Amino acid sequence: MQEIKFYSGENLPLELHKTRIVQKLHLVPIERRLEALYEGGFNTFQLSTKDVFLDMLTDSGTNAMSDNQLAAMMQADDAYAGSQSFIRLQQAVEDVLGKKYLLPVHQGRAAENIISVAYVRKGSLVPMNYHFTTAMAHITDKGGQIVELLYDEAYVINSDHPFKGNMNIEKLEEAIVQKGAKNIPFIRMEASTNLIGGQPFSVQNLRDVRAIADKYGIRLVLDCSLLGENAYLVIQREEEFKDSDMGTVIRTMTGLADLCYFSARKLSSSRGGGICTNNMEIFKELEALVPLYEGFLTYGGMSIREVEAMAVGLYETLDETVISQSPTFIKYLVEELHKKQIPVIRPAGVLGVHLDAMQICAHIPQKQYPAGALAAALFLISGVRGMERGSISNQRDEYGNETYADMELLRLAVPRRVFTLSQIKYVEDRISWLYDNRHLIGGLKFNYEPPVLRFFMGKLEPTSDWPQKLMAKFKEDFGESL
Ligand code: F0G
Repeated sequence: MQEIKFYSGENLPLELHKTRIVQKLHLVPIERRLEALYEGGFNTFQLSTKDVFLDMLTDSGTNAMSDNQLAAMMQADDAYAGSQSFIRLQQAVEDVLGKKYLLPVHQGRAAENIISVAYVRKGSLVPMNYHFTTAMAHITDKGGQIVELLYDEAYVINSDHPFKGNMNIEKLEEAIVQKGAKNIPFIRMEASTNLIGGQPFSVQNLRDVRAIADKYGIRLVLDCSLLGENAYLVIQREEEFKDSDMGTVIRTMTGLADLCYFSARKLSSSRGGGICTNNMEIFKELEALVPLYEGFLTYGGMSIREVEAMAVGLYETLDETVISQSPTFIKYLVEELHKKQIPVIRPAGVLGVHLDAMQICAHIPQKQYPAGALAAALFLISGVRGMERGSISNQRDEYGNETYADMELLRLAVPRRVFTLSQIKYVEDRISWLYDNRHLIGGLKFNYEPPVLRFFMGKLEPTSDWPQKLMAKFKEDFGESL
């Protein structure tokens, strides 16, 4: 992609789109934000958007859609079976992802369910570069286990390593030999590994994983939800691909996998999801499960309008100016925070900016959920809603014991083409203030803990009156400012 230089020498990410439909935002007073936190059990999933200023919870289903996507939705061919919209989607999947056979599903985790129902049994082990919450929940739900096989550098917060999402090839082979290939239904690789800070793997690493999969006759499953961003970073960081286009990199990666699945809420800035393959045998093994769990094979639980938007959105992932917008904004914010020595995952990845709550809230023990506390504190002082990606997002082990996360992160998602640079600067400003007042942040404890995916619906409370003290300091420093 061509670089655009500023005469001033400033290194700013420049928006290569214009805004034609807007939505008004509200920044409610801090007193209301405090009430909202108590009402929502200090869980940002439980906040109502009427209280949220900048919604950085996720990029899932919140990326801006393009004019062409919206236009395509108007020509949806609504039919229970045999819709022409599905034919267009199939073509898009073949053109963009290089896979002929497509099974539509209502979102990414539905694909995870179907793949797990088909292949995971009690005693199965699924090696992966790193888990995603829903992927793990579906595998353990079917009696399987997962093992995460990253290199040590993946866990280094402040690093220059370009591919922290790489699978540890030596450990992968060890795990297979130890468990026996017949107990390993598939190896799962997640593009732009979400929970370690949106960190990519290299194409070379995927080739090495493929070689091991071939050696032991194991299927390779690629989670493509954040594949576009992984491909963009491959072009930026992997010498072999520096002159390649997005399509070439994307298809090189998908070509190495037996089976791809995705959340279209992320991949194609729409809703929905899909599973695709070139292997007819795999297709047949999964096909019957789609009408059972999702819907007929030409809509898979999605509205046909979404099917149209997804087809157009898939072609748009080939456009580097579409895909680069979020990573360049993320990089800008990460580097500005780093200059102020605020601990943040580096190098900048995709999806969002990831603050290291383990360091920022070093005074809060892990059992009082430092990342959840930081998420609540940032919302209180700014109206910015992020997502806890730490121990609250972990699940208890089979004996009911708490399992602490490797990293305690506050993720601030930067959905594609949604925020302006001044909004990003506001986020930076409020994080800086919070960092200077971090000693005022206290811990959290559960008062309602659901048994599965507890982070969605769980309710917590502060361990002291720290939110009131933080609010008092905010008012002292900002006066009447919102
Ligand atoms: N895989 C990855 C890598 C994801 O990031 C997600 C969702 C899924 C699978 C599940 O897809 O939500 O459509 O069912 N990630 C969202 C997030 C929820 O906020 O990171 P889904």
